[in-house]
Amino acid sequence: MSIPFITAEEAAACINNGDNVGLSGFTASGTPKVVTVALAKRAKELHEKGEPFKINLFSGASTNDHVDGELARAEAVNLRTPYQGHPDSRKAINCGQIHYFDYHLSHLSQDLRYGFFGPIDVAIIEATEMSPNGDVILGAGLGMAPTIAAMAKKVIIEYSSYYHTSFRGFHDNYIPADPPHRREIPIYKPSDRIGSTVLHIDPKKIIGIVPSNASESIKPFAAGDETTERIGANVCHFLAEQLRQGEIPKEFLPIQSGVGNVANAVLYGLGENPEIPQFQMYTEVIQDAVMHLMEEGKCNFASTCALTFSDEAMLSFMDNIDFFRDKILMRPGEISNSPEIVRRLGLIAMNTALEADIFGNVNSTHVLGTKMMNGIGGSADFSRNAYLSIFSCPSIQKGGKISAIVPMASHVDHSEHSVKVLVTEQGVADLRGKSPRQRAETIIENCVHPDYKQLMWDYLKLTQKPIHTPHNLHAAFALHEAFAETGDMRNADYGRAERLNETND
Ligand code: COA
Repeated sequence: MSIPFITAEEAAACINNGDNVGLSGFTASGTPKVVTVALAKRAKELHEKGEPFKINLFSGASTNDHVDGELARAEAVNLRTPYQGHPDSRKAINCGQIHYFDYHLSHLSQDLRYGFFGPIDVAIIEATEMSPNGDVILGAGLGMAPTIAAMAKKVIIEYSSYYHTSFRGFHDNYIPADPPHRREIPIYKPSDRIGSTVLHIDPKKIIGIVPSNASESIKPFAAGDETTERIGANVCHFLAEQLRQGEIPKEFLPIQSGVGNVANAVLYGLGENPEIPQFQMYTEVIQDAVMHLMEEGKCNFASTCALTFSDEAMLSFMDNIDFFRDKILMRPGEISNSPEIVRRLGLIAMNTALEADIFGNVNSTHVLGTKMMNGIGGSADFSRNAYLSIFSCPSIQKGGKISAIVPMASHVDHSEHSVKVLVTEQGVADLRGKSPRQRAETIIENCVHPDYKQLMWDYLKLTQKPIHTPHNLHAAFALHEAFAETGDMRNADYGRAERLNETND
């Protein structure tokens, strides 16, 4: 069967107002880059004529400017899930223009298959190789590609000629059976392959192939600042100590690491630390740091959902691709982030907090409780099930006007039950085996910035009677209120709570 080449505009014309559109890819990697730009143009033209045009957008994770940026600016998105990180889509979400629901990345594929969100009308899949019978080699990221390709009524292929070498052999396409027929996912070590290198798509559903030669447009991370370096060093020292004490097995354990400067600093730190043995990764994205650790022999295998390499690193990866061919497997997000596998392999999970409270509850998503940042991503898939779950963040933000450690988190993504270790540039709080009051004392002592320590000790003193979790609900958000009223959390005042205490006495 011959599948026609079509233009991006012709492909966009096949997408209708109200359609559920699913995309391949995870971060910018493996995500479509041309059809969504034409779709945004089509939306703008229809809006100018007074016609409604909005789609519901389902992706593996965050995308790129070609997707979230273009479509948000064109006001072409009605519903968005599970994760985004583009400033324009964030703005549209926070002013109510886009309905966004934040979802665990490992759950979305299966919940789509369960029918919770209706059908997938159109799937746009980036391919780097393809045969006429619909066998596709995906690009640098999978995301939900297997599920959306299987569910979609219509499939558009974006055929990328950017990659000058073959990605054949890096993918592990797999869809678990749905309940009540699901069996265990047979991954017992990060390098176990369980699926297929090709993704078969019914050619009858493929409406056309759109050529593309766009890169992922990923910039290298800026060098970390002093705070980032200190957080990275604190995490590395802690892990080395855990290894020495035998709390981490001497072979070490697979690592999951979130994205960003702290994650990079930690990975480079582990690479340089002679006490840390060669390790493997079971994670959702690998960045430039992992590529270098592989070249140096410190990391010998990575299971991931995407290669989120900067364009520069991707060129060097492609030049040296055969070296990596037996060291990397890319899997769908529901497998790379599978709670079952995370628990079985015993991962060391390292993720980032926006805000944490002194009892160990973590907010990774909502700035000051109300504004969506990016989404929960895979952080809870990993942290809830890891052998050791570490969250880190700088102790202060905005030049000290905000403390990232507060009496009560203004939103909770990861509860005290999942957060085992909290790290800031000030130090490490090991929360395992501690009661709420003990956790608060450890966090205040080790993680809170000196400008805020007394405020936190004073908060604990507000509860005079012995009680399990020493919160005072009249003062729990005093720091947030002070920021809203004066622009600086250091002006927090517990006066009302203190007066009420006196009255009660
Ligand atoms: N209150 C108000 N603003 C805050 C804040 C707080 N407690 N903490 C951070 N901010 C602001 C920063 O000042 C900065 O603002 P700016 O953009 O105006 O400079 C912005 O939020 C980003 O902060 P930064 O410290 O640079 O964050 P980051 O880039 O390291 O990202 C998360 C941190 C939590 C947003 C990010 O890791 C994330 O989205 N995590 C959830 C998903 C996840 O963990 N994925 C990986 C799973 S595998």
